[in-house]
Amino acid sequence: MKAIDLLKPRRSYYSLNDQTDVKNETIIKTIQEVTALVPDAFDMKSQKVLVVLGDKHKELWDLIYDVFDGKVAREKIDMFKAGVGTVLFFVDKNIVDTLANQFSNYAENFKPWALQSNGMLQINIWTALRELGLGANLQHYNPVIDDKVKEMFDLSEDSVLLAQMVFGNIVEEPEAKEKEDISARVKVAE
Ligand SMILES: Cc1cc2nc3c(=O)[nH]c(=O)nc-3n(C[C@H](O)[C@H](O)[C@H](O)COP(=O)(O)O)c2cc1C
Repeated sequence: MKAIDLLKPRRSYYSLNDQTDVKNETIIKTIQEVTALVPDAFDMKSQKVLVVLGDKHKELWDLIYDVFDGKVAREKIDMFKAGVGTVLFFVDKNIVDTLANQFSNYAENFKPWALQSNGMLQINIWTALRELGLGANLQHYNPVIDDKVKEMFDLSEDSVLLAQMVFGNIVEEPEAKEKEDISARVKVAE
């Protein structure tokens, strides 16, 4: 299949539920394979993910609701909670700092590189989940939830939470996007 045909159906899907035939093992294996394939600067392997499934996924969104103490509407949290799972994306700060110390000429670059690489991982997992027939959306309740998430999953202090990708069975398709004049953003010199 062409890369473009995989990218096209990826959208932000908010209307999700947990009624899917896709097995957890398939989801886990897919995310493992994508993570192994996505590049990182100096091949430093700074991206980490935690795939949260089933009851743990539901618990996670209840926890996020509690952390925000009612400031995020219950209905909004329940929309995420209704899904199959959440992929938590992290950068391993220890790896980034170690490389930055080792290669002092590029020291300032390692943090942005790690973020760039994590973005590459996010889009690839988002696309791969869609290929499995699952819809996903990307959330950012960090840094407010960081301490509680670390506590819930017993994570190291070095794990810096960057994003939460909720995924599930697609209930409703998003509205079609407006057509864009892409030549305004893609310039060509030849
Ligand atoms: C870096 C980044 C951050 C985003 N943060 C959020 C977010 O916090 N909440 C949310 O609902 N969507 C978030 N999105 C989704 C975008 O709003 C969405 O991808 C964009 O509007 C295009 O729509 P599409 O995903 O359907 O193509 C984010 C997307 C990116 C790439």
